[in-house]
Amino acid sequence: VALEINPSIFHPSSPEAQSIFDLTIGVVLLCAAILILVVGLITFACIKFRGKKDTPDPKPVYGNTLLESLWTAGPFLALVVVMFFMVRTMMLVSPPSSSGKPDLVVVGHQWWWEIRYPLANGSEAVTANEIHIPVGKRILLELRSADVIHDFWVPDLGRKIDAIPGQPNQIWLESDKIGTFTGFCAEFCGASHAWMQIRVVAESEADFQIWRDHQASPAIIPQSATAQRGLELFRSNTCVNCHEVSGISTAIQIGPSLTHLAGRETLVAGALRNTSSDLARWLSGPEQIKPGAHMPAFGFKKDELDDLTTFLEVLK
Ligand code: CUA
Repeated sequence: VALEINPSIFHPSSPEAQSIFDLTIGVVLLCAAILILVVGLITFACIKFRGKKDTPDPKPVYGNTLLESLWTAGPFLALVVVMFFMVRTMMLVSPPSSSGKPDLVVVGHQWWWEIRYPLANGSEAVTANEIHIPVGKRILLELRSADVIHDFWVPDLGRKIDAIPGQPNQIWLESDKIGTFTGFCAEFCGASHAWMQIRVVAESEADFQIWRDHQASPAIIPQSATAQRGLELFRSNTCVNCHEVSGISTAIQIGPSLTHLAGRETLVAGALRNTSSDLARWLSGPEQIKPGAHMPAFGFKKDELDDLTTFLEVLK
């Protein structure tokens, strides 16, 4: 039931991904040419110098200075060429270590991504599992980890980067096309490592500003009686201990912020669609959907589930 994801290194959508793609193809072609040359020469020698009946073994030849110089210099030069293009790509895809304050902080958790945008007024826009970026603009992303080593990878947009506890890393994140790009955690990090997807939505600068300002705004307070009962359930259970809903519960990032949950495309870091039936499934049995998840099963009754999902769906 999860949304289809189609990450690929074969349709690069940023200068960084394009550079990695070109390097990959270049190295593959160079290696293929070497393979064809070597196999060709061996095949040629096998046929041309094949021993005939009753001919004696040929005399071994040692120490041809010209040949030995050539097959030492050849591979050396090939590696120098590869190194040149590799260093060029590395310089393009990784920001220098003194790049300063990030535009965006991503924190890997077991098994979801915390997303924080520092704002000009000193506050932050906080969300989870879905990054928005303005198209055509290079974003300095700082990656951290809250627990174990994760690895952030959106193949269409750039390189992999490890999220290491206590060691922030930075990369450029950029897209030259409008669209949604999917990625995932690329380092085994426990039972639900496979359900640690990331979505990057590249949109116009104006749309991005609207989205980010909205993420920074407090949650919509529910009006209907059902949603208010849901809010009471949220408050009276341990939900509030782990989940931030700005204006309702405090900013603790043990579980994802739910302030604008209903505006996201997926739930549970890509494991479910963001629909009321999937939300109810998740609330009634997290363990069945995401083994090992820290979210407990509360054993809600049917009407409690309805109230809670109605409340969460108000959080646009
Ligand atoms: Cu996080 Cu694998």
